[in-house]
Amino acid sequence: MPRKNPVITIDGPAGAGKSTVARVLAERLGYTLIPTGAMYRALALSMMRSGVPAREGAELSAHLAPLSIVVAAGHVYLNGEDVTESIRSREVAQITSEVTTLASVRAKVTPLQREMAAEGGVVLEGRDTGTVVCPDAEVKFYLTASLEARARRRQAELAAAGTSVSLAAITSELAARDKQDETRELAPLRRPRGAIELDTSDLTADQVVERLMSAIEHHKNGGRAPIPWNRLYAACKVPTVAFMRLMFRLEAIGTENVPAHACSRKAARCSCFPRGHAAMRASSAPPSRGRACSRCRAALRWCRSTCAAPVGRGPGGGACLVRQR
Ligand code: DC
Repeated sequence: MPRKNPVITIDGPAGAGKSTVARVLAERLGYTLIPTGAMYRALALSMMRSGVPAREGAELSAHLAPLSIVVAAGHVYLNGEDVTESIRSREVAQITSEVTTLASVRAKVTPLQREMAAEGGVVLEGRDTGTVVCPDAEVKFYLTASLEARARRRQAELAAAGTSVSLAAITSELAARDKQDETRELAPLRRPRGAIELDTSDLTADQVVERLMSAIEHHKNGGRAPIPWNRLYAACKVPTVAFMRLMFRLEAIGTENVPAHACSRKAARCSCFPRGHAAMRASSAPPSRGRACSRCRAALRWCRSTCAAPVGRGPGGGACLVRQR
């Protein structure tokens, strides 16, 4: 059965900007964010704390079985404890990279992620979300960036958190993680089939979000291009303005002569009157020559509705006229 809201997956190497973009997208769409790497980090933290070695065996299975990992409102809970902050250390990142190569670890986490995504309306972010976790996702993205750009971003992130690390050290760490992610046997990092690929090296987070949002809108629109309201407006504007100019060719002149409390409201003139100068009194007395045309009647109506004061020349001395353009 088709889902009411799509499943969106964002995969790519470390530092490609997935986490920031996934968070903003989830906020803008009102979807649930599932940062899959954070779930693996929580599991690795738990193994680290208990001293469970990163290898398959009875000890690992016994440790994993009762483990509870929950993602809610951007926070990650390990057996009920909020570990959102503690899983961000470099030490945890390194152990996680090892731990994620284990089949029993992935067998524990992948079903949890699928369960959360089943209803749709989710943004999954990680390495295998579009290939293994939700290969049937409606919208898949694959974000990349040069190693240099990713290292610079990671360095800035660490600096913001108060940790100073050399660019060279970060670059070699990232290269090692790329290798680990791309060459592992289980769920290696790959561009998912049908994914939209985007190199974010020279783009700001906002620019990436805008591009992804337009792809999501395109999908929601049933694959049709969104209605180009701007172009439609521009196309309609020209004939509308031309039509209005033709039909309502009136303009007010001499309004500076109209005092605030007494309007001259004296006359309207229009080229349809003989000699184009026939004055028509605002008292609705028929014009001396011929009947007022509809434009002149409209002009008088305009004059009356604009000026509430009685008829008569005001202290300004001049006359408020409405004439054809
Ligand atoms: O995205 P991250 O840095 O929080 O991910 C932490 C580690 O988990 C990283 O080594 C890649 C791994 N990972 C994975 O194997 N599969 C995922 N779906 C997400 C992350």
